[in-house]
Amino acid sequence: RLMKVFLTRRIPQEGMKILSATGVCEVSQWDSDEPAPRAELLKGVQGAHGLLCMLSDKIDAEVLDAAGPNLKVISTFSVGYDHLAMDEIKKRGIRVGYTPDVLTDATAELAVALLLSTARRLPEGVEEVKNGGWSSWKPLWLCGHGLSDSTVGIIGLGRIGMAIAQRLKPFGVKRVLYSGRTAKPYAAEVNGEFVPLDTLLSDSDFIVVSCSLTPQTQGLCDKAFFSKMKKSAIFVNISRGAVVNQEDLYEALKNGQIAAAGLDVTTPEPLPTNHPLLTLKNCGEERNHELRRDVPLYDCRHAFKMCFLSPVLFHAVVIPHLGSATYSTRGVMSALAAQNLVNGLQGADMPSELTV
Ligand code: GLV
Ligand code: GLV
Repeated sequence: RLMKVFLTRRIPQEGMKILSATGVCEVSQWDSDEPAPRAELLKGVQGAHGLLCMLSDKIDAEVLDAAGPNLKVISTFSVGYDHLAMDEIKKRGIRVGYTPDVLTDATAELAVALLLSTARRLPEGVEEVKNGGWSSWKPLWLCGHGLSDSTVGIIGLGRIGMAIAQRLKPFGVKRVLYSGRTAKPYAAEVNGEFVPLDTLLSDSDFIVVSCSLTPQTQGLCDKAFFSKMKKSAIFVNISRGAVVNQEDLYEALKNGQIAAAGLDVTTPEPLPTNHPLLTLKNCGEERNHELRRDVPLYDCRHAFKMCFLSPVLFHAVVIPHLGSATYSTRGVMSALAAQNLVNGLQGADMPSELTV
């Protein structure tokens, strides 16, 4: 007898092939690139044995009740699982598959791209070229901060955090700090120093958030957090928007408490186009051009930022949750999510089962 599975979205063909080839599933699908409206999700899961969902689908008691007692496997097309009500799911004896590892490289790469784009102000530069602001090559125009000799703080040195640290090292990063619940033996590979969060905040030139969203990390980056950062520091979040108190981040940027933010994740997603974070303008450039009187000119050779009064107030660079968005990674995620589902339905081991 065929098992009913419901897919909440269109997925790359790699996964569809697996679902049809194995001949165990009868697939129904919200056949769109956009999320299924809640009512369609509740309708679609009815009687399903398996559910393949996205990180944007909230799978809570209501969905599980709508599905009914047939539901045996949930396979999420993501590494994050904060959208899954795990207590409710476990209570019902439902198995869960997810897609770790296969997206680590793509996500780390994106984190580095976002960090550099933010620090070196690429979006502003692109904008200036388009709007005629590029009048000439100017020594003091669109300067940012470089990675060379810097200290990078990683919050959550897991698979993705490690891959980020490994990629940043060749840029000449001097120290890699990390904080979290426990010291990680593998941190030695990147000379990572396990430090209290306060030390990470006060010493880092770049802070990258790559932890998972849990009750412990929800709202971790708040007013107190930002106030402990260097004024010249750059904040990057590639994990989940809810790790950040976004109002506090906005205030920190607006008040020049920190220099810039690069965000791949926001609350909500999508971020409304009129959100205050998107209205931040670089209004510190003029002030920044004044030379510091207290630093002799001949000391200015190491770091450009030493020569100038205060860090520039940058824009926030916000991108639309693109961490794993390479063609090949999404294809592999699709195959893995489908294989997790099929194996789970057959009572076999899944390639990546979530056991928490
Ligand atoms: C992306 O954010 C994921 O959890 O896969
Ligand atoms: C920059 O293009 C330089 O030549 O210094």
